[in-house]
Amino acid sequence: MCSPSKAELIHVFKGIPFTTRSSPELLKSLDNFDAREDDVLLVSYPKSGTHWLAGVITKLYNTQVTLTSPIEFGDISKLEELDKLSSRRIIPTHLDYNMLPSNFKKKKCKMIYISRNPKDTAVSMYHYYRDNPNLPTVDTWTAFFDLFLKGDVVCGSWFDHFLSWEEHKNENNILFLFYEDMKKDLPKIVKDITVFLDINISDHEIHDICKKSSFLEMKTDTEKENSNPNHTVCALTSNRRLVFRKGTVGDWKNHFTPKQNLRFEEIFNEKMKLSNM
Ligand code: A3P
Repeated sequence: MCSPSKAELIHVFKGIPFTTRSSPELLKSLDNFDAREDDVLLVSYPKSGTHWLAGVITKLYNTQVTLTSPIEFGDISKLEELDKLSSRRIIPTHLDYNMLPSNFKKKKCKMIYISRNPKDTAVSMYHYYRDNPNLPTVDTWTAFFDLFLKGDVVCGSWFDHFLSWEEHKNENNILFLFYEDMKKDLPKIVKDITVFLDINISDHEIHDICKKSSFLEMKTDTEKENSNPNHTVCALTSNRRLVFRKGTVGDWKNHFTPKQNLRFEEIFNEKMKLSNM
């Protein structure tokens, strides 16, 4: 059996490549989305640590919360489905700021943006492309590297995504986090999250949550459960097992050639010249 073509797996909406698992009808109707003041959004470019962050946040509440699938994932019935939920909704999304349903902005919902060194993100995404039947085939790292730099990958350019959100990072309802900071000092970041979300929780509980959110614990938990589409917070797969690969900082060094590194840095410096990163 031959694998599906890129055209069967990807469509472009407002200039951004989406998988066909995000239906054009849903994307068109996102602006009708009825946000609630207590919604919490988990925002990321793919492969930045979304599942890790989601794992932490869902453990922080002592009231019932529902971690939904990403808002852009599914078909037109999605909005109705989310509307039916009675508990607080934790909603992941890979949308850039401009595409985010305007109701979230109007209601000043809390949003947490997690970012990661784009070199590691690129490597993580490359492996994800290779293992994920919902994404087009990529033959080599070299080929993927070019696609990533051009933004010709799902969710578009890392640079555009990051910049669209960075512009809003000082707004009171937005918290900016970095994967590398979570690796360095998870309890501190979890504390920052609890302050941002107004959650009262002891240091002891934070310590416990950090332990349960380690890469190994999360990977093992995932291997134990049957693959359930509702458990993924990524719009690109329903197989959570694809997510927990290495969980390290700096894996890019095992993939980038010196020439690729130079090219990446040049493009990074050019695109990010107005960024504070
Ligand atoms: P690698 O492919 O580099 O291993 P996302 O959840 O946004 O899809 O990001 C997936 C990346 O986060 C993967 O990176 C995955 O291993 C890493 N990750 C997931 N859970 C983690 C955890 N508990 N600690 C550290 N990294 C984690």
